[in-house]
Amino acid sequence: MNKYRFEYFASCPTGLEDVLSEEILSFGVKATTIVRGGVKFEAYHEIALKVLLNTRIASRVFKYLYDLEVSHEKDLYHEATEIKWKSLMDLHQTFKITTIYGDLPRDREYFTNSQFTTLKLKDAIVDYFRHFDKARPSVSKEAADIQFLLRIEFDEEGVRPYKAILLYDLCGDPLNQRGYRVASTEAPVKENLAAGILKLIKWDPKSENFLDAMTGSGTFSVEACLIAGDIPPTFLKVEQYRKNPGLRTWCFLNTQWFTKDEKLKENFEILVKEVETKTREGMKKLEKSPIKFLANDISKYTLESTMANFKKARLDRIIEVYNEDALDSAPVEGKNYFFVNPPYGERLNPGEIERLKVLYKNLGDLWKKEFKGHRAALLVGEMDLLKSVGLRTKKRHILFNGDIECRLAEYDLF
Ligand SMILES: C[S@@+](CC[C@H](N)C(=O)[O-])C[C@H]1O[C@@H](n2cnc3c(N)ncnc32)[C@H](O)[C@@H]1O
Repeated sequence: MNKYRFEYFASCPTGLEDVLSEEILSFGVKATTIVRGGVKFEAYHEIALKVLLNTRIASRVFKYLYDLEVSHEKDLYHEATEIKWKSLMDLHQTFKITTIYGDLPRDREYFTNSQFTTLKLKDAIVDYFRHFDKARPSVSKEAADIQFLLRIEFDEEGVRPYKAILLYDLCGDPLNQRGYRVASTEAPVKENLAAGILKLIKWDPKSENFLDAMTGSGTFSVEACLIAGDIPPTFLKVEQYRKNPGLRTWCFLNTQWFTKDEKLKENFEILVKEVETKTREGMKKLEKSPIKFLANDISKYTLESTMANFKKARLDRIIEVYNEDALDSAPVEGKNYFFVNPPYGERLNPGEIERLKVLYKNLGDLWKKEFKGHRAALLVGEMDLLKSVGLRTKKRHILFNGDIECRLAEYDLF
């Protein structure tokens, strides 16, 4: 059993690893390692918490705990009973384990059922406490005090064929849940995916108006405002924490790693204050900003939800809302970034796809005619639809919104 020190893993939607790594480095982390679906990094605890409070792109942040060499589930049980669980959690705390399998051989005999693997680790924890305290902690599927991630990897060079890596989930709820989405609409994009896309397309918050032509729940508009104002994405969570510090805002607050480290607690307070200051300053900055944020949707009904979200994010006076056909859009004064995320997904039937092809063609025609000299990007579910636009893409990216594979295409409009 090896104990990890000062190592963290930030997960993200596949396709955003590079921009997440850049973001993490910008918080003062010296080096990162990019892997599929996330970024590994070494950092002082304070910097890891800074990442947690300020990342726009990560889905979750984990802290490495132990690394066990195992041959099968029974081994996992035995190795795990060697861990001093009392230093990781308290008898009275509820806990949850999520198991994920890395790239394991297809024809393997063991580690074929993640629920069974989870059960073995749970048994080890429960038996450890029963042995020492004659009582057992409870599992909670929702809102557990302590959340563990167990990742099983194949270990070609190891003494035993598998590696079971145990991590603390520092977050609790995933970080994309910023707290401003009070009303949902059809096929919303995850907030951290939207923020990552704005980084990928290099939208310039200092000089380009942001036209969110099919805004839906308004995710891109809110994330664009937060970036432009340099407002941390956790600003609403920090408010919640201030009102009720005992609330389970982030799981790390319940860990001994945090509660027993007075210096870390002091530094966390400083980080929280920094979020509050940046939020105040950012909101003022946005009020004076010459950059315009326009959110448009053809559905009046959808816009009711959109506006509720903008209000919750306190951006209802910053973002201008329109109820038009995106095909009637015109540039506003200055440089414009025309962003569009039309309806897409598995639920579309062939008739709808044909209708969308016409929409995409018309969009391409609108850009050619009205938006010369500006920039645009499209986030779509079907590759075929991109062809209908009839314009050369500057760059394409493959991304995942949850399980749905999507394409992001960037255009320079001449
Ligand atoms: C995939 S959703 C956008 C999701 C959004 N990015 C979010 O995160 O919530 C597509 C939106 O496009 C709107 N829409 C469809 N056709 C439109 C058109 N011609 N003009 C403007 N909006 C349109 C729909 O009402 C829907 O809200």
